[in-house]
Amino acid sequence: MNKQKVNVLQEKREQALKGGGEDRIAAQHKKGKLTARERLHFLLDEGSFEEIGMLVTHRSTDFGMEKEVYPGDGVVTGYGTVAGRLVYVYSQDFTVFGGSLSETHAEKICKIMELAMKNGAPIVGLNDSGGARIQEGVVSLGGYADIFYRNTMASGVVPQISAIMGPCAGGAVYSPAITDFILMVENTSYMFVTGPNVVKTVTHEQVTSEELGGAVTHATKSGVTHFACGNEIEAISQIRALLSYMPQNCEEPAPSLPYQTADELRPKLDQIMPENASQPYDIREVIDEVIDEGSFLEVHKDFAENIVVGFARLAGRSIGIIANQPAFLAGVLDIHSSTKAARFIRFCDCFNIPLLVFEDVPGFLPGTDQEWNAIITNGAKLLFAFSEATVPRITVITRKAYGGAYDVMNSKHIGADMNYAWPSAEIAVMGAKGAAEIIFKREISAAEDPNAKWLEKEKQYSEIFANPYRAAERGFIDEVIEPSQTRLKLIKAFKMLENKVVNNPRKKHGNIPL
Ligand code: HXC
Repeated sequence: MNKQKVNVLQEKREQALKGGGEDRIAAQHKKGKLTARERLHFLLDEGSFEEIGMLVTHRSTDFGMEKEVYPGDGVVTGYGTVAGRLVYVYSQDFTVFGGSLSETHAEKICKIMELAMKNGAPIVGLNDSGGARIQEGVVSLGGYADIFYRNTMASGVVPQISAIMGPCAGGAVYSPAITDFILMVENTSYMFVTGPNVVKTVTHEQVTSEELGGAVTHATKSGVTHFACGNEIEAISQIRALLSYMPQNCEEPAPSLPYQTADELRPKLDQIMPENASQPYDIREVIDEVIDEGSFLEVHKDFAENIVVGFARLAGRSIGIIANQPAFLAGVLDIHSSTKAARFIRFCDCFNIPLLVFEDVPGFLPGTDQEWNAIITNGAKLLFAFSEATVPRITVITRKAYGGAYDVMNSKHIGADMNYAWPSAEIAVMGAKGAAEIIFKREISAAEDPNAKWLEKEKQYSEIFANPYRAAERGFIDEVIEPSQTRLKLIKAFKMLENKVVNNPRKKHGNIPL
C-alpha cells in the first residue's frame, strides 16, 4: 500500500479523535465531565468498540460554517459489546459545536438506530448537547424528528437507554423521554423544555438549572429520570448493570444465569411481618430475602416511594418486581405510583421479563388532589398494563389487599398465573373498621354503647374477611403459604410457567388510558 495514502487516512483519524481540540477537551474535564470517547471507553468491553461514520462532516455553509469542520460532526457512533453482548451506541461530543445536532449528526444516530433494529440489539445514547445546531435551522429540527420517529419505531423492539451527561433542553428532551430508561448525573446534567431564563420571563419564577431540571429534581419530583447518579462513571456502570437483566430484543427470552439449586427456605421471612397489621415494614427486606442474593436493581428508587419496582434474579433468571411499600404512605396507590409501576410492567412485558408482585395495599389514596389530577385515568394505566401483560405473572399477597387495589395489583381476575397469600393476608372490600361502620350503621347507632357495638362488629367483619381463606376457597388464591416457603414456591412456579404462551386478541394496538 502506498504509504502516503495510508498517512492521509491516519491524519484524518487523528483529527477525528481530537474532537473540538485540546482546549475544549480541557474545558470539558474542568466541568467534571468526560469526553464522548472516554465515556464509550468505560461503557464498552475493552477493545470492542467499532466506530461508524468517523469521517462524516456537516454540509452547512451559512455563517462561514464551511471553514469550521470537524470529522465526526459532534457525535461518536458505532457498536461494541457490554459483558460480551452486542450494543449500538452514540455519544455526543460537547467539544464540537457544543454537541449540537446537525443534519449529519442526526443521520449518524439514525443509522445506528436502524442497524440496532435490524440486528436486534440495545441502543445506548450518551447525551451531551446544546440542542439543535443553531446555524442549520430547520434542517436540524428535521434531524431531531427523524430520531424521535426511530425511537418510537424501536420502542418494544430493542431496549433503549439514554444517559444525560450535560445539557438536554428544548425538544431534544423528547428522544430520551421515548426511550425505556433515563439516567442523569447530579450537578452536571439537566433536562427541561424551557430553561430558567424563559421560565423567569413567563412565570416570574427564579430557579437554577439544577433546581428546574437537574438529576435530583427529575429523580424525585417529576420521575422523568429513573436514576440519579453521583458521577458519570456511576451512571455508566449502572447502564452495564441494567443491560444484564434485559434480553437483546423482543424476540429473545430474558437472560438467565447458571444456577445451582440449594436450600431455598428462608426462615427470616417468617419474622418480618409485624404483629399489628397497621405497623409498617420495609418491603425491600422481603424482596431481598426472596431473590438471589444482592440481585435487586431498583428502578425509580426516589420517585413514588409507595411502590417499589426493579429487576432481580430468581434462581438465575431475570424477573421484574412490583411491590407495594408499606413503609411509605402505608403502600397506598396514587397517581405517581400507578404510572411508575405501569411503565415498568410494560417494559418487562415488551422484553419477556416475568413479573413478580408483592401486594400489601390499603387501597387508592383519597382526596381532591388525586381526583382532580385524574387518579381514575392514571390508576387505570396500572390496571391496563397488568391486564395486557402476557409474560408469566405471579402475585404474593403479604398483608392487605383491599378494594379496587386488590383487583389492580395483578389479581387472578386480570390474568395473573399464580396467586399466593401469606397467612397474614387480609383480602376484602375495605378495612374492618370502615366496613363495620357502613354495613352496621343502624345497629351501631341504636346500641346503648355505640363504640362497643362498633368494635364488636369490626371484630366480626375482621374474623370473616381479614384472612386469605375466603379468597382461597374461591380459587382466587392458589395457595396460602408460610412466608419462609416463598422463594421455593416462586422458583418452582416460574419454572412451571417458563413456556407460557398467551395471545391477546389481534388488534392494531390497545388504547391505554393516557
Ligand atoms: C451551535 C452551539 C450550540 C448550538 C452550544 N454551541 N450550543 N453551537 N448550536 N445549539 C457551541 C457554542 O457556540 C460554543 O462554541 C460551544 O458550543 C460551547 O458552548 P458554551 O456556550 O461555551 O458552553 P456552556 O457555557 O457550557 O453552555 C452550554 C449551553 C449553551 C448551555 C448549552 O451553549 C447554550 O445555551 N446553547 C444554546 C442552547 C440552545 O438554545 N439550543 C437550541 C435549543 S432548541 P465554541 O466554538 O465557543 O466552543 C432545540 C430545539 C430542538 O434544541 C427541537 C427538537 C424538536
